[in-house]
Amino acid sequence: LRIAALVSGRGSNLQAIIDAIAGGRLSAEIGVVISNVASAAALQRAESQGIPTQVVRNRDFPDREAFDAELTRCIDAHEADLVVLAGFMRLLTPGFVQRFSGRLVNIHPSLLPAFPGLRPHERALEAGVRIHGATVHFVNEETDGGPIIAQAAIPVLADDTPETLAVRVLAQEHRLYPMALQWISEGRLRLENGRVLVNGAE
Ligand code: GRF
Repeated sequence: LRIAALVSGRGSNLQAIIDAIAGGRLSAEIGVVISNVASAAALQRAESQGIPTQVVRNRDFPDREAFDAELTRCIDAHEADLVVLAGFMRLLTPGFVQRFSGRLVNIHPSLLPAFPGLRPHERALEAGVRIHGATVHFVNEETDGGPIIAQAAIPVLADDTPETLAVRVLAQEHRLYPMALQWISEGRLRLENGRVLVNGAE
């Protein structure tokens, strides 16, 4: 499995994927890490491992279509089988999503379909949920709305703040994402007609 990772920031999920590959828990290689933010710490993490990196600044393009076309060119140039969004903070166009359908995954820090979009931890606390967590999903045209691959749950504690919740969810993300990617790498699940098939069954 050859991965193209799209990042915008800190890159702790990227690091978890790098570590899982190094530790033999994930049979994959990262062909390229692409960031829309030149200063993203994620780029340094990749460079320190000798992984090719590319900066594609959204501001350098007149519209989303042109930006996504350049992302596509980069992904294809590195012959990636799977596009992994890891803290990538841009919305992708329907054309891009369709082109990589079934080969485009994301991780979101909530138990989807609850709390898609921004500030999920704050909104989980506001809603008073007792269970929170993280979701790995195939990407479709709805933000954080695609078919679910895997989830990890944690209890919400009485004295939790968005920050303490984020720390515990992030620890789960680092476990969950490499695991879900390994399932894909093993061919244990795939997207068909908008649903996730596991070993050929729903
Ligand atoms: C993670 O919480 C991820 O779920 C969300 O953005 C954050 C990225 O963190 N999509 P990092 O860059 O992987 O550290």
